[in-house]
Amino acid sequence: MSRLPFLFIITGMISFVLFQAFSLASLSGWLGEALRSPNGWFHAHLFVLAWATMLAMGAVYQLINVILQSSLYSERLGYVHYAAFSAGTAGLLYGFIRGDLGWIAGGATLALAGILLFAGNIAATLLRAGKWDAITLSAACSVLYLALTGISGLAMGLNLAFGFWPAIHGQLFGAHIWLGAVGWFGLLITGFSYKMLPMFYLAHDYPTGLQSVVLVLWNAAVVVGTLAFLADASAWLLWTALLLLAAAATAYNIHLLQIKKKRHKRNPGLGIQWSVYASQAFACLTVALLIYALPNPDRLLDERIVLAAGWSYLGGWVSFTILCYASKIVPFLWWTYKYGKQAGKPGTPMMADLLNERNVHIGLALIAAFTLLLIAGLAADWQTLVAAAGSAWSLLSIAYISLIALVFAR
Ligand code: HEM
Repeated sequence: MSRLPFLFIITGMISFVLFQAFSLASLSGWLGEALRSPNGWFHAHLFVLAWATMLAMGAVYQLINVILQSSLYSERLGYVHYAAFSAGTAGLLYGFIRGDLGWIAGGATLALAGILLFAGNIAATLLRAGKWDAITLSAACSVLYLALTGISGLAMGLNLAFGFWPAIHGQLFGAHIWLGAVGWFGLLITGFSYKMLPMFYLAHDYPTGLQSVVLVLWNAAVVVGTLAFLADASAWLLWTALLLLAAAATAYNIHLLQIKKKRHKRNPGLGIQWSVYASQAFACLTVALLIYALPNPDRLLDERIVLAAGWSYLGGWVSFTILCYASKIVPFLWWTYKYGKQAGKPGTPMMADLLNERNVHIGLALIAAFTLLLIAGLAADWQTLVAAAGSAWSLLSIAYISLIALVFAR
């Protein structure tokens, strides 16, 4: 069994702890600072690149075999990808915190090289398997959007260092965040859920038509949103992209209910149940934002709204879903690696023995509660609430990820 997913997953988990520790040290004060400061860049990328993207890449390497029933195009390329991406991300983070433009440009180049190796490896694997459906198409699109996020990031890094294209920097900035958040994370999570949820619910014979609807609507939201930023268009175009995203999120949630209806297992695992609640909350929040911005779409660009909405999406849905799935992915990986060959022999633990479900449930419930409080604090611009809820969220997150990490000691 390949060790490649472990490398990414463990590095991602270490980055998550580092992010929470730094956040705690400032009592979440970095969230209250202006966007686009060295402190903001550092914390944002420790979260989205070193934690969420790193872990997601590990999950892709693990699940691509399950999805395609065939092996990765090149495992060796996967290790080169790991080396380039982790070194590049470390350099980029160092450049961000120091405000050192040379390190930003150098780190961005190396991190992008890692991302392109990943994209090439996944593209070759998918093309070789030639099995096209909503799951593989979502994975392919998500990886393409990650590459575009990296390219726009490098373009901004080079502009910061050498001033190549100052006129379009602002447009690139919006497109960069939209492509990374909605494109890369959004399509990866939705696509992989079509495989993971039926697996854990033991669901069969559910309709799959909505998967294609979500795929089309979600891609339309990514493209329209990116164009809205790149063309510096009226805020109505961004509102339209949000409308498409809200429609996609609603269709996605209806599909999750269709899967649940055809289940043969009552309890898919509490982590999976929490991921479904998070998706429902995400759809509700997207619709609420759409209605809030209807009288005046310029409200979508208000810094306070960007921060609260951005954090709801990245912290409340993307990262929370990863935490939920980690409670399934990590025990599965570790059990297969360590005990797979002894399965059924006396004394061999069951997969369910590796992680206590009740603790997962308590951990995720508390993290969800404090995430909501933190979002309320950001929306109300109430610093005391942000500091209190943010610090509790960080402490609970460290406790939860330690629980997951302890699986490796079983
Ligand atoms: C190789 C990969 C990446 C590189 C080189 C990169 C580079 C950059 C740079 C240079 C900026 C600063 C732009 C400015 O303020 O003028 C930035 C901002 C930002 N990027 Fe990335 N980025 C990468 C990946 C990602 C990903 C995957 C996401 C996921 C959503 C992301 C989200 C953000 C966010 C939220 C900001 C704004 C941070 C703030 O202003 O506080 N980036 N990125």
